[in-house]
Order: sequence, then C-alpha cells, then structure tokens
Amino acid sequence: MARLLKFNIFRYNPMDEASTPRMQEFVLEETVNMTLFIALNRLREEQDPSLMFDFCCRAGICGSCAMVINGRPGLACQTKTADMPQDITLLPLPVYKLIGDISVDTGSWFREMYEKTESWVHTSKVFDPTALEERMDNEVAEQIYELERCVECGCCVAACGTARLRDDFMGAAALNRVARFVVDPRDERTDKDYFEIIGNDEGIFGCMGLLACEDVCPKGLPLQNQLGFLRRKMGITALKNLFGRK
Ligand code: SF4
Ligand code: SF4
Ligand code: FES
Repeated sequence: MARLLKFNIFRYNPMDEASTPRMQEFVLEETVNMTLFIALNRLREEQDPSLMFDFCCRAGICGSCAMVINGRPGLACQTKTADMPQDITLLPLPVYKLIGDISVDTGSWFREMYEKTESWVHTSKVFDPTALEERMDNEVAEQIYELERCVECGCCVAACGTARLRDDFMGAAALNRVARFVVDPRDERTDKDYFEIIGNDEGIFGCMGLLACEDVCPKGLPLQNQLGFLRRKMGITALKNLFGRK
C-alpha cells in the first residue's frame, strides 16, 4: 500500500498584513517515482492554490527549486520522496529575501555579489566582432567549464555558517566565481587586484573552512579546492603587500 506522506511546510506571505509565520500540515499519498516537485505541484493543485514555491526546469539545471528539506538545503526537483521518511519538513532557504512560503529571491543576492566581485572578464583589448575566437588550452577550458557548472541555486550559501552570521559575506558561490576568472587567461587582473576584492572578511578570509557548502552543492562543484586555492593565493598576496613585493 502506498505511504501517506505528511508534509510540514512553512507558510508566510510578507505582502499580506494578516499573514503570520506558521507551519502547515498537508497529507498526500505517495506515487511511484514521486519527487518533491511533483508532490508540491499536487498539493497546490489539489489542496491549496495559495502555496508559493519556485520551479522552472524540473531537471536540476535552473537552480530555482532550492529549499531546506528536512534540515538540509537541496533541490526539490532532484529529491525523490522514496528516499525520504514519511514526515517531510520544508522551509525556505535562509539568508535570501523571502518572497512567500518556501519561495526566496536568490536572484538579487547573486546579482549583488557578482557586482561586488566584478564578475566579468577584465581586459584592455577592444572587442573585434570580425576576429576569430582565440584558442585556449583544453585543460584550462575544462577547468573553467567545471567552475561554470554552478546553477546559482544558493544551497551553499544557505548552509554556510559565515553567511548566516554576516550578510556581506560573499559565500562559496561568489568565491567560486572569482576562482573561475583567476584561471581564465583572458582576464588581465593581477593577484593584487583580486586581493582588493576578496582579501578581507567579506571574502576569502571570512570563510571558516568547515565546508558545509561543498557537502550540500547539488552539482558537486569542487568548492573545497577553490576556497583553498584562493586562500593560499590571497595569503601569499597579503605577505607580498606587507613586504612591499610585486
Ligand atoms: S567552507 Fe567557507 S564558504 Fe563553505 S560553508 Fe564553510 S564558511 Fe561558508
Ligand atoms: S556552488 Fe553549488 S550549491 Fe552553490 S549556488 Fe552553485 S550549484 Fe548551488
Ligand atoms: S526546477 Fe530547476 S533545478 Fe529544480
């Protein structure tokens, strides 16, 4: 016989003055190959049309369905109910602005952090639309591709102790993005330029190194390696700055 799943879902609509934060219980019969995406859509269609949550691709690509699932940030569309206990608690990701219920605004956070880290290729070359593309070593291209796989779901930031304590911390996603430009030969920034951006407590020196970010990243990004790489690079740059070396 199919299980009856008990959902405990955070409800609050900040746009509605009459709304107060609370948990609401729903019961739903489990079906074969059910994901949390399917379950939430059924709850909205069959039980409560006011339930707010985000989805787009249903394939772990857009990053919009991240939420706290039984205490752990993850993608709802990639979570099968068969892998879960009968009681399922869903909360919105912390750190980000709440839109309503379990929907949060990760987009504004990412835009702000990418502006702060100047997340684009800095080059003095003038763009020539008629020129052939410049070749890049396969190994470097693969390294960049690996770091570009981030889907901006925000799970790593939601799991991060520093990000929970300070809202100016860039978080693993933005630092990973910086690492992507450090390895890109087209970017002409020096270590000292990067130090100006991330060589502080808002950047790499605010990271406590406990690696919850890597544990929860649904794309398996090598965040530990990137944070270590940046910490070493910025540590050496700090010493060079101290002793006036280039
Ligand atoms: S290792 Fe650093 S960035 Fe990752 S969760 Fe811990 S404090 Fe946050
Ligand atoms: S690094 Fe991983 S957990 Fe963080 S936003 Fe990107 S895909 Fe999500
Ligand atoms: S709906 Fe796009 S990642 Fe889940």
